[in-house]
Amino acid sequence: MAILKVAQLGHPVLRHPAAPVPKELIGGPELEQLIEDMIDTVREYDGVGLAAPQVHASVQLVVIECRGDKPGREAIPLTVLLNPRFVETSKEVASDWEGCLSVGDLRGLVPRSLRVVVEALDRAGETVTLKAEGLFARVLQHEIDHLHGVIFLDRMEDLRPLAFAREFSRYWLGPKADEPEPEPE
Ligand code: NI
Repeated sequence: MAILKVAQLGHPVLRHPAAPVPKELIGGPELEQLIEDMIDTVREYDGVGLAAPQVHASVQLVVIECRGDKPGREAIPLTVLLNPRFVETSKEVASDWEGCLSVGDLRGLVPRSLRVVVEALDRAGETVTLKAEGLFARVLQHEIDHLHGVIFLDRMEDLRPLAFAREFSRYWLGPKADEPEPEPE
């Protein structure tokens, strides 16, 4: 078990497009170790997703999991995706709050497609097609953006709904205070 250091905004690795994982490396000890360490890391920091460039590995690999242990927060089973790409993204968009393990404790309101279809390889190298909506669709868009050097701040239409976690809880949850705080991705 290893908790990896998470690159913070300003580190160039977060802005580089990540390389596809070569098929011959899938299932090998080096990639499996990276996947296990990323799972340990995202759990340690209470995130719902982590992309390999965030741990200084510029390859197309993301890990997503939400235990659903907060009220109103849907669970997402542990999902490991290699070389993911969007097959479909809905034109219908909704804005919701996001955070990022690479962006300190800032929270921002980000528009995302409500539904997506993603094609990827699983950790065994099998092709998988995922249909997702809601939180899962949002996290997929956030993580796959990381593989292309895109940070959630780039997706905000307006930087005014950007807040530190403490101020977010205090001033932005408001009447919807029963909504859970976003976990960083
Ligand atoms: Ni992130």
